[in-house]
Amino acid sequence: EKNGFPHFMLKEIYDQPGCISDCMGGRVNPDAGTVTLSAVSNFKERLAGAHRFIIVGCGTSWHAGLIGKQLIESFCRVPVEVEYASEFRYRNPVISSDDVVIAISQSGETADTLAAVELAKEKGAFIYGICNVVGSSIARATDTGSYIHVGPEIGVASTKAFTGQVMVLALLALLLGKEKGIVSEEEYHQTVAGLVEIPGKMREVLKQDSLIADFSKMFTYARNFIYLGRGYAFPVALEGALKLKEISYIHAEGYPAAEMKHGPIALVDAEMPVVVIAAQSALYDKVLSNIQEIKARKGRVIAVVTRGDTEIKKLADYCIELPDTLECLLPLVASIPLQLLAYHIAVYRGMDVDQPRNLAKSVTVE
Ligand code: M6R
Repeated sequence: EKNGFPHFMLKEIYDQPGCISDCMGGRVNPDAGTVTLSAVSNFKERLAGAHRFIIVGCGTSWHAGLIGKQLIESFCRVPVEVEYASEFRYRNPVISSDDVVIAISQSGETADTLAAVELAKEKGAFIYGICNVVGSSIARATDTGSYIHVGPEIGVASTKAFTGQVMVLALLALLLGKEKGIVSEEEYHQTVAGLVEIPGKMREVLKQDSLIADFSKMFTYARNFIYLGRGYAFPVALEGALKLKEISYIHAEGYPAAEMKHGPIALVDAEMPVVVIAAQSALYDKVLSNIQEIKARKGRVIAVVTRGDTEIKKLADYCIELPDTLECLLPLVASIPLQLLAYHIAVYRGMDVDQPRNLAKSVTVE
């Protein structure tokens, strides 16, 4: 079932272009340039009328939630809070019947996320599930939702479920923004066109696998890593760090790039690899100057840049190139090289990447 791949994780990383096409199937119409989601058609008023969204999840699903916040706030101009399900459920949170709670869970069985859903339901919120496993406990407990349809995920480290979650969140945010009259016809069609191109762009990124495998060797004995990104790239940095921790057992932290000078820069020396997601964006120059600061302290920089970049390429020790993508869709392509980096480092270290120590695929106890 590994289709010739040595591990499920690698297979699932490579499955992503196909999974993302499946996730869009029947929802995105490339010819008409439109999106439909049955949950939105069925509950249009409730969803478009929400005063606030609260996204709950754990681990990777929480990281997808952070991207969802940026997508929904920018397309719908409605406030969004993102909560660790475990914190939310025990905090006596303020929830009202005008809120929509989005529960994100690959397995649909995570105990804390399920408890957060039950609590929000009691308080009268409307619950939207984003799950992978059809008929799972969380999927059954929600009022409506959209499956991510990426197929079974076997590797304990989540990969294709993350990009599937981000895709569903992008479709939901775009569609609701359109319903609310905030997204213009032009932006709508432009974004749909951007979505349709994602699987092809993912394939382009996967072509750099052997380059990533080559330089990953240099980091076999690293003891720490820092991951930096801003805006849509910040949750990607958190997710990249989580992947490395989970399967290679190397300590890694993700930070918003501008926070570096508020503390973590003290850690940077010749022993500290820093992964920087530095794709073209409005904040490119600021990220460039963060890289200069790291190099001035002899840190080793692995940069994820947009193809055609010249400035960062001069400074970084290793560069991974991404095809140019709409900024709001960046996480869908930028997360792939970080999955591969974590994978190859873990394999060089001789770790069991599909079954990392101390972890279970679904956390059904708190
Ligand atoms: O099944 P869920 O999405 O609810 O799982 C949540 C987390 O346990 C999960 O994402 C975990 O962090 C993964 N091992 C990450 O790779």
